[in-house]
Amino acid sequence: MNAAAGAVTATTSLIACEGVTVAYGDGDARVTALDAVDLAVEPGERLALWGRSGSGKTTVLHVLGGLVVPNEGRVMWKEQELSSLDEAARGRARALGIAYIFQGSNLLSHFTAFENVAFAREASAESADERRNSRADYEPADLLELVGLSSKLDSLPGELSGGEAQRVAIARALAQSPELLLCDEPTGHLDSDTAERVLDLIEALQREFSFALVTATHDAGVAARAGRVVELTDGRVVGVVSS
Ligand SMILES: Nc1ncnc2c1ncn2[C@@H]1O[C@H](COP(=O)(O)OP(=O)(O)OP(=O)(O)O)[C@@H](O)[C@H]1O
Ligand SMILES: [Mg+2]
Repeated sequence: MNAAAGAVTATTSLIACEGVTVAYGDGDARVTALDAVDLAVEPGERLALWGRSGSGKTTVLHVLGGLVVPNEGRVMWKEQELSSLDEAARGRARALGIAYIFQGSNLLSHFTAFENVAFAREASAESADERRNSRADYEPADLLELVGLSSKLDSLPGELSGGEAQRVAIARALAQSPELLLCDEPTGHLDSDTAERVLDLIEALQREFSFALVTATHDAGVAARAGRVVELTDGRVVGVVSS
């Protein structure tokens, strides 16, 4: 284990946390969720954030996705300091290429599978076009076909199985033409066979589209599929293992 390997060394990183500290609450209720975290993600790499419940995995993803602003430290997206932007600007930064698969699939419950994907594509189409990203060529129905759900276009999330809902969430994330895909416990609610298929699918799509993938998981087997595993304990990076 070499914790220093998680430090920010390259200027070519896609995204990097530098000395990021996040605290929730005040006074006696204050919780330090992240404590001086350094973490760099390279373009196209497959990285796992691994640690027990409460270790800070989701908070790291929220920081990387611009959803939480650190109390200390900064987040660099390419040349741009993400953490110094106001909320609207962070929203634009997200539209520049960061997609999120939340803990639980988090689909819009009153919209069909097709509409969930179409809505995400619409929201990021302009910036995706600006990036001349080939995935912008995929229509929502194509993306749902890619994840094997052509027969479920008109299904509402409540009519889908857990694995199917997770695949819609994957198609929705792809609709944003991500350069960085953040996955929070993508298999947390799935049986082991379905989990395996969902992970295989995400990895196949990563090979095809070359986005960087950061997966938060408490599961050592899921983490072991990554090229680099960053271990978190009590909000600190305590180890980095590359395979
Ligand atoms: N909104 C919040 N308000 C207060 N404390 C929070 C909040 N979100 C997270 N925390 C605390 O911050 C710490 C890190 O939480 P986080 O959700 O990042 O952990 P995690 O590793 O994702 O856990 P899990 O595996 O259970 O999802 C925990 O102590 C948690 O209780
Ligand atoms: Mg979590």
